[in-house]
Amino acid sequence: MGTPLDRKYASKSEARAEHARLHEEIAAHDRRYYREDAPTISDAEYDALRLRYEALEKAFPELATAESLTKKVGARPGEKFAKVKHAVPMLSLGNVFSDEEVLEFVARVRRFLGLDESPLRFTFEPKIDGLSCSLRYEKGHLVQAATRGDGYEGEDVTANVRTIDEIPQRLRGDHSDVFEVRGEVYMTHKDFAALNVRQQESGKTLFANPRNAAAGSLRQLDPTITASRPLHFFAYGWGETSALPAKTQMGVLEALRGYGLPVNPLTALCESAEDMLAHYRLIETQRATLGYDIDGVVYKVDDIALQERLGFVSRAPRWAVARKFPAERATTILRDIEIQVGRTGALTPVARLEPVTVGGVVVQNATLHNEDEIARKDIRIGDTVVVQRAGDVIPQIVEVVTEKRPHGAKPYQFPHVCPRCGSAALREIDERTGEADVVRRCTGSLVCPAQAIERLKHFASRNAMDIEGLGDKQIELFFQEGLIRTPSDIFTLEARDRASLTKIKNREGFGETSVRNLFAAIEARRRVPINRFIFALGMRHVGETNARRLARHFGDFESLRETARDAAPGSEARARIDSIDGVGPVVAEALHDFFAERHNERELDALLKQITLEPMPAVASTSPVAGKTVVFTGALERLTRDEAKAQAERFGAHVAASVSKKTDLVVAGPGAGSKLKKAAELGVEVISEDEWFTRTGQG
Ligand code: IVH
Repeated sequence: MGTPLDRKYASKSEARAEHARLHEEIAAHDRRYYREDAPTISDAEYDALRLRYEALEKAFPELATAESLTKKVGARPGEKFAKVKHAVPMLSLGNVFSDEEVLEFVARVRRFLGLDESPLRFTFEPKIDGLSCSLRYEKGHLVQAATRGDGYEGEDVTANVRTIDEIPQRLRGDHSDVFEVRGEVYMTHKDFAALNVRQQESGKTLFANPRNAAAGSLRQLDPTITASRPLHFFAYGWGETSALPAKTQMGVLEALRGYGLPVNPLTALCESAEDMLAHYRLIETQRATLGYDIDGVVYKVDDIALQERLGFVSRAPRWAVARKFPAERATTILRDIEIQVGRTGALTPVARLEPVTVGGVVVQNATLHNEDEIARKDIRIGDTVVVQRAGDVIPQIVEVVTEKRPHGAKPYQFPHVCPRCGSAALREIDERTGEADVVRRCTGSLVCPAQAIERLKHFASRNAMDIEGLGDKQIELFFQEGLIRTPSDIFTLEARDRASLTKIKNREGFGETSVRNLFAAIEARRRVPINRFIFALGMRHVGETNARRLARHFGDFESLRETARDAAPGSEARARIDSIDGVGPVVAEALHDFFAERHNERELDALLKQITLEPMPAVASTSPVAGKTVVFTGALERLTRDEAKAQAERFGAHVAASVSKKTDLVVAGPGAGSKLKKAAELGVEVISEDEWFTRTGQG
């Protein structure tokens, strides 16, 4: 990093003021990182703040008092953990909160597999409230341990995990060459309390709950600190393996126990749905005396062959579900209602609360959903309200304690103008039903700074253009400075006013290196797959899936643009978009609205001068059906419809509901009628269900 102190100070007092400001800011980030395990800035941004703080002390040594953060041991380390890519992603679980939802889950699994009355076993496992970890054993030796991270890439915490007594360095008995054990690292209530006493005695920050303490302890760059923190582990699954030791979930867990790994003793096998509910009720009564936190239970289909058939939907398995304990509640005061303006102009009310602890976490904000919700619950500023928090869900206001309402509290008036730009905020009327939309929207899409900022955030975000280093905070800053107002500005940033950048660099702890890295990240995204670009434009009703559909259908951006521009109601172009599989009239209208708008045209021209669009990446599948459009028809015997669809998608095929010129393959079972006829007319290949299994390499 270049010299972070490249601005000369007029006076020592100016330097002192900045040092004090940075002290507060860094301490707040440390609190979020250590206590809450919820950092709000990237490591690079944090490093930049720290470097600047240290540089100030070097230039003005009298600032380096005993209170200085540079004197504190255990301050956040400057180095980082190495990244580890998970060979098998570490995904999450769907949540349910009631008996009914558990029964629905069981019914859904049965339906998917086409099972009626035949027995179906589920395992019952406590859901440990810690942090998940993947332990890689090769030839029985622990070679690597990684945190979950974003599920695809985690942090290498091998040295720290080696200090956890319960985790064996060598597996006992017979095991396959490669075995990745997945489980939860946690801290007991007793150890958590003792750790906080030690923290207090040595003047360090306290941990908010055992989960944060476990996470903070495992993510120490100095393993001797981890070694001094009593961590435990329960294994509940596996990642990459060269062979599995059993055919059932329970069998594998027993094998893991045999290898010397701790498996939770309350794990059980359920023979029926009633059994599943009974186990839940039992653990509810044991929860308080377990000595460690659990936040619910997990049910998993026991038969691994069935798990494989069920597969995954987006980021969660179809074969497992978490039943969470009921939400925790607390009472507090509603200080204010703030209106946030989103990318599409939606006005969202957010409750600002008197901070209150709900289930071990301090809550200051809660969602109020929309205008009608506030009116329905008659929520007024100054009210005493019941706040609820369930798992990772955003806290909600359940009800108002009306007896405690202050005198003179008035019903809340939802604004009819945008609080950010003053444009009228309206609720659209649905033409068919005549009903007003629940969402009130700002109509100033082209002048509203809030919408512009949110659109830019979306444009640069991970699943869109994925510009590293251009996060929410940077966008807000660049927008305020007038440096980035539209997406195309991002790509001309480097070529423009360097003087203004230097200004930013100094004031916001934006170091030389971070600016250079940002420019490199922007350069890297001058070539981008067309589907990402379409999604990045942030058109209404065009999420990632529709962006892919449009990219697949049109192939190049210009033909999408022309067709959408011409797609006035009733036109041929409108009918063409309408007929794209999965894309309906609502999307067609949104596309037309977007492309027919002259300001958008101008911005698109500017943007396309800066970047080059690449074809959508081919599905990473070597299956002969990858990239093909498949239609299933007739009675399938080995697969349910849902399963057939999921299977085809897993192999990279696209499943359509009806046969058209675009169909590549029809899989027909007995009783197939009109679709078979249509396929014959169009000369589309028709195969049997058995042939489908052969082609997809499933025997
Ligand atoms: S199974 C694809 N089993 O809960 C399977 N997870 O909400 C995903 N967890 O990230 C995980 N106890 O950190 C599983 N018995 C258990 C668990 C468990 C705790 C955690 C784990 C996971 C999170 C998902």
